[in-house]
Amino acid sequence: MVTVFGLGFVGLTTALGFAELGYRVYGVDVDESRMEMLQKGQIPYLEPKLEELLRAHLDRNLFLTRDVETAVHESRYLFYCVGTPCGEGGTADLSCLLAAIDSSVQAVEDERFRILVIKSTVPPSTTEEIVRPYLEEICKEKAGQFGLANNPEFLREGHCWEDFIHADRIVVGCQEERGRQMLSELYAPMKVPVFCVSPSTGEFIKYLSNTLLATLISYSNEMAQVADAFGDIEVAKAFQILHMDKRWGGCGMTSYVYPGCGYGGYCLPKDTCALLAASARKGFEPPILREVIETNRKRPSVMAGKVVQGLKEGAVVGILGLSFKPGSDDVRDTAAASLIREICRMGNYQIAAYDPEARETFAAAYPQLPVQYLPSVEAVYEEADVIAVATAWEEFGKVWSLGEKRIVDCRYMSGKIDDGQDLHESRTRR
Ligand SMILES: NC(=O)c1ccc[n+]([C@@H]2O[C@H](COP(=O)([O-])OP(=O)(O)OC[C@H]3O[C@@H](n4cnc5c(N)ncnc54)[C@H](O)[C@@H]3O)[C@@H](O)[C@H]2O)c1
Repeated sequence: MVTVFGLGFVGLTTALGFAELGYRVYGVDVDESRMEMLQKGQIPYLEPKLEELLRAHLDRNLFLTRDVETAVHESRYLFYCVGTPCGEGGTADLSCLLAAIDSSVQAVEDERFRILVIKSTVPPSTTEEIVRPYLEEICKEKAGQFGLANNPEFLREGHCWEDFIHADRIVVGCQEERGRQMLSELYAPMKVPVFCVSPSTGEFIKYLSNTLLATLISYSNEMAQVADAFGDIEVAKAFQILHMDKRWGGCGMTSYVYPGCGYGGYCLPKDTCALLAASARKGFEPPILREVIETNRKRPSVMAGKVVQGLKEGAVVGILGLSFKPGSDDVRDTAAASLIREICRMGNYQIAAYDPEARETFAAAYPQLPVQYLPSVEAVYEEADVIAVATAWEEFGKVWSLGEKRIVDCRYMSGKIDDGQDLHESRTRR
């Protein structure tokens, strides 16, 4: 009943989610090596739960196929979960999305009604002003047999499964009653509120979410720089004590109100730029959002300045952490890459790096960066003249016990209350 195009973090989770709910699902991806791995029951990226679920559902009610005709023929729902990377001038590049829509609608041979559902993140007005005219152009008289909706996804990498299957709300951006009903029915077994809104509202809600998270991070980074200007401020403790305000209500958002190296990963960098560009095209260039992006762009250079301070040319800089966040091997737009680039721009330094999961993905994604990859925290400590913590993997906490070398804590892991123990735990113990 459902075909999912694009089997990355979002698409594979979506396909498995619908399979788990009892639907018959087809999964299609243009990346041959990704398809081969998935067909063997293996996941091409680090993500809890997905491999176990893939093995449970593969060839039972989840079918991975290159045969788009059969998949589309049997499906009433076509979900698009392809990438929407940063395009020219910061806009969202819709080429994969339009190509996937094209290949699927061209494969339709009957006259049954189907709904095309955009789960990829696309800027407000994309569904109605770009995708609908595109559909009408490629389908001509057949266009009326397709409903069109967006259904933004709010999952976090590292928590894909639990965020999908225990979603706190489902957003359906759709102007047609029939499409709204079909999607409400599809999601009914999840027993979560389904909010049907206009297509642009649906798209906007996703950007509200991601731009707010980016704003919280850039605000925290700017405040950390304010603290640095005063010089005698315990930044980690200050932020932790801020989180104790009962107005936060113990919510998970506090993790975004904490300084670091700058936000990275696949979503926040491209989504902030895409909304800025899309809004500017409509005649309003949001100044706060522009500054959020600018603060983030400068952050690695602020941190790199701390790292190279007083360092002799030719010295070895140790980098701990390459993934964009702990628990992930995703290095897309990771702050570690920008930090290394900035350090190399500031002088002739050697880079020795360790990450428990992301060494291979980083080496493949950034072959131009002159990095020596080492196997452990200890090896980096041994080799380096100064060490920079670029990702807050828990195991990096031990680096402070290894000796007296200078450590630049770009993630504010040290100096926390109770030596970095979980704040909630330390509060309840008290
Ligand atoms: N990663 C996240 O945490 C996250 C969270 C919410 C929303 N999103 C959004 O969801 C979308 C997908 O993100 P992702 O992280 O899963 O991307 P991804 O890069 O992991 O996966 C995208 C997949 O689409 C495939 N693809 C490209 N063109 C195709 C086509 N024509 N037909 C079939 N497959 C095709 C690619 O080969 C790739 O495997 C993006 O718009 C992203 O912004 C991502």
